[in-house]
Amino acid sequence: MSLLDNLLKNNRDWSEQIRSSDPDFFKKLSQQQSPEYLWIGCADSRVPANEIVGLLPGEIFVHRNVANIVVHTDLNCLSVIQFAVEILKVKHILVVGHYGCGGVRYALQKTRLGLSDNWLRHLHDVEEKHASLLQRRDDLDWRHDRLCELNVIEQVRNVCQTTIVQEAWERKADLAVHGWVYSLKNGLVNDLSLCATSFEQSGSVYAQACERVHRLA
Ligand code: CO
Repeated sequence: MSLLDNLLKNNRDWSEQIRSSDPDFFKKLSQQQSPEYLWIGCADSRVPANEIVGLLPGEIFVHRNVANIVVHTDLNCLSVIQFAVEILKVKHILVVGHYGCGGVRYALQKTRLGLSDNWLRHLHDVEEKHASLLQRRDDLDWRHDRLCELNVIEQVRNVCQTTIVQEAWERKADLAVHGWVYSLKNGLVNDLSLCATSFEQSGSVYAQACERVHRLA
């Protein structure tokens, strides 16, 4: 008797269900993974990568942390990006934020949480960078939504500036970096129309995405 019997039972049911539709599924999967996508998303339990885009195990490589932040010196995230780009040769990196993100809200409200304040400090940097836009309205929900969008735009920029992505583009690898924001309210993705496919173009893609948020605000 385990305290997690319910989860273990779910696991057996899930395995059985997949094998009944494709008896070789796990055999094929255990021999190789060849995902085309790397998902960099929030650790929030309401934002499950595979389910949102309807992909099976083996089809999407996933990195998640609080508030989907890409820090230039985060060895964990950088290693995931390097492995995905150079070993798995993914074609798309998706930075996926979500409206209603707790990390973003705590940062906006300047709530003290403890150790994670140091991580969320990166969100304050985004907030300060776009202060003129965010201060246009007093409405906290509105500012929360905009900061979720701006955070994705800044993290896409950070991904584009990693040596890994720059080197991939230098050798003409087929690699695009995208920015999305997922809605917890209806399960739909808002594509920020942000798609960088080369270093030269990534700067203007970033500027246009910022401009769109500013214009719509
Ligand atoms: Co979140």
